Amino acid sequence: MGWNSWNKFRTRIDDKTVREIADAMVANGMKDAGYQYINIDDGWEWKRDESGKLLTNPNFPDMKALAAYVHSKGLKLGIYSSPGPTTCGGYTGSYGHEEQDAKMWTEWGIDYLKYDWCSASRVWKDEDMRAVYQRMGEALRKAGGKIVFSLCQYGRAGAGEWGPLVGGNLWRTTGDIRDAYDSMATIGFAMSDNAKFTRPGWWLDPDMLEVGNGGMSATEYRTHMSLWAMVGSPLIAGNDLRGMTPEIHDILTNKEVIAVDQDRAGKGGHRVAQSGETEVWARPLEHGTAVALFNKGTSEAEVSVKWADAGLKGKQKVRDLWSHSDLGSKADGFSAKVPGHGVVMLRVGN
Ligand code: GLA
Repeated sequence: MGWNSWNKFRTRIDDKTVREIADAMVANGMKDAGYQYINIDDGWEWKRDESGKLLTNPNFPDMKALAAYVHSKGLKLGIYSSPGPTTCGGYTGSYGHEEQDAKMWTEWGIDYLKYDWCSASRVWKDEDMRAVYQRMGEALRKAGGKIVFSLCQYGRAGAGEWGPLVGGNLWRTTGDIRDAYDSMATIGFAMSDNAKFTRPGWWLDPDMLEVGNGGMSATEYRTHMSLWAMVGSPLIAGNDLRGMTPEIHDILTNKEVIAVDQDRAGKGGHRVAQSGETEVWARPLEHGTAVALFNKGTSEAEVSVKWADAGLKGKQKVRDLWSHSDLGSKADGFSAKVPGHGVVMLRVGN
């Protein structure tokens, strides 16, 4: 769980903003809710010097000092690069300098690397992807092995299968998210087929959250957060943490939904029933099962789950994770009215 600069700031990101975001994450209770990574996306890089060392641009005068500052807040710092000669934003990538870069990030105190395919397709084919990611995976291990390795390859090249073998911890299942319901829903609901790959230390990454960026309603952002939690995906906020409404804050810090996302069993949730524009998803938890009733239509609909569809037998106690209320014990299943583009998310158990 953490934050990434891209969705809100694109390449207009600098040292001062990153420090302020870290401050905000502590002050607004997100750190207490479990968020810890502050990830700088594209836009920190500059050119290489004569020794091949990748320099930072003037927006980031001292990365080591920035990492120390973020660590002093009890948080972690992430960085971004590409296996290609340039990043998607046209900045310098790690091509041919993998070991040198991994060593430098380790010296800075970096905790997380998002490694984005981008211009790597100019020098390699998709069939080479595994070996290319392996090269950085080995460089990170050689440099100390403490950096979370995020594969950003837009769902390509079967990374779900081989990612853990090259040292990966998460993999992008789809293309880039936009702050719009259709984009979020397309990406989010597509995760069901990949649930089988999920296990502790190897997570689906449907991209960073757009919660709070303004393009969706609160109902739609609750659907967004629920879908990500149902598959145990990283919750990487992408809004400006220095100012958000109480409603957005409540969505990002809903401890019951976060507990589903972070469940220790580390199993993937998936679609267990579908009817018209409604879907039922279930995720086995360490204790009990998370069940989500989604309505993809635009007007309210009744959505029902049969316990048998969710792999459950007998009477189940039902708790609503967005209204924070116990709904009693139900014998065969449960039905609820779900708003258009909305969700009812439950924890079920006996
Ligand atoms: C790609 C990635 C995004 C972001 C940008 C940065 O599009 O998928 O998440 O990192 O590059 O340029």
